[in-house]
Amino acid sequence: MNRRRLGFMTVVSLLVLATHATLAGQAAQAPLPNVVILATGGTIAGTGTTSTTTVGYAVATVGVQSLIDAVPELKRIAMVRGEQVFQIASENMTCDHWLKLGRRVNELLAQDEVDGIVITHGTDTLEETAYFLNLAVTSAKPVVLVGAMRPSTALSADGPMNLYDAVSLAGSREAVGRGVLVCMNDQINGARDVTKTNTSDLGTFRSRELGPLGSMRAGRPAFYRTSTRRHTTQSEFDIREIRELPRVGIVYGYADYGSAVIEALTAAGVKGIVHAGVGNGSVSLDARPALVAARVKGIVVVRSSRVGSGAVARNGEVNDDAFDFVVADDLTPQKARILLALALTKTVDTREIQRMFNQY
Ligand code: DGL
Repeated sequence: MNRRRLGFMTVVSLLVLATHATLAGQAAQAPLPNVVILATGGTIAGTGTTSTTTVGYAVATVGVQSLIDAVPELKRIAMVRGEQVFQIASENMTCDHWLKLGRRVNELLAQDEVDGIVITHGTDTLEETAYFLNLAVTSAKPVVLVGAMRPSTALSADGPMNLYDAVSLAGSREAVGRGVLVCMNDQINGARDVTKTNTSDLGTFRSRELGPLGSMRAGRPAFYRTSTRRHTTQSEFDIREIRELPRVGIVYGYADYGSAVIEALTAAGVKGIVHAGVGNGSVSLDARPALVAARVKGIVVVRSSRVGSGAVARNGEVNDDAFDFVVADDLTPQKARILLALALTKTVDTREIQRMFNQY
C-alpha cells in the first residue's frame, strides 16, 4: 500500500475512533429518567419464614424503600424514588383504592420532572387495577404495573428482576404512548388483554390468544405490537369528578346456575350486571327472566363470557336488541365490570355504552 493511501486510512481510523469516543461519552452523560415507584403491597412485598416458603407467607410487609434498596442496580438506569400508597393484599383492593391511585398517578405524570411510574401490586387483582388505570390515566408517559409470584425472602425471588425491568420500561421512550403495561417474567403485556392464568406459575400473566406486546431483553424493551383500542390520552373518562364508582356485579354462569344471584344483585341495587355466560355468553332459560327484569328496572346488563378468550357476538346466543343488552366484545368479565362502571359515570344509554365496549 503506498504512503499516501496509508496516510488516508490512518486519518479515517482516527476519525472513527474519535466519533465512537464522543458517542460513548454522550451516552454516558445522557440524564437518567426520573421514575416514581408507587407501592401498594402484594407478594412482591411479602416475607416468608424460610427461603423455600412460596405459599402461606406474609403479604404486604416490606416497605417501598426496602424494595428499592434491595435492587441497587436501579441507580444505573433511573433516578428512583418511592411512595407507599397502600400496603395491602390485592384481593382487598377496592374501587376507592383505584380512584385514589389513579388521581396520584395523574398528579405525578403532570409534573415535567416525572418520566414514568411503576406500581408494585399484588398479582391477584393486578390486571384489574391495570385496566382501570388504562382508562383513567390522562398522560402518554409510561405506567408499568409489576408484582411477583414468590415473596422477597424466597430462593430465586422473581420480584427484584421484575422491579428492575419495570423501572427500565417505565423510563424508556419505547413505552411512551402504549397504554398501561404489565411487566413480569421478562414479558410486556398490555393492560387491556393481560390476565393471571395460573395460581402459582412465575409466567402467570398472559394475554391469551392476543399475546404480549413485547419482551424485556437484558433490561431493555423490545416491542412487536401495540394495542388498537382506546386508552390513556384517548380515553373519555375523567376520574377527577368521580367520588364513587357505580356498583356493578358479576354473575358467573354454569350448568343449572338459576337466577338467585341475579335477583340478589338486583335487590342490592347495583347499577350494572356483567353476565359471565358459558360459551359465547349464553344465558340459560332459567336465568333469562331475572336478567330481563333487571334490565327493565334500569340495570344495564352486559353479556360477557367465562371462557377467557374470544368475543361475545351481539345478537348471537341472545337477542340483545330485543332485551336491550350490551355485549362485552372480548373483555373478561372482571374487566367488562370496570369499563361498565366507568361508562355509567357518563351515561345509561345502552347504544353509547355498546360504542364504548366496541372502542376500548
Ligand atoms: N394475596 C395475593 C395478592 O396480594 C398474593 C399474590 C401476589 O401478590 O402474587 O395479590
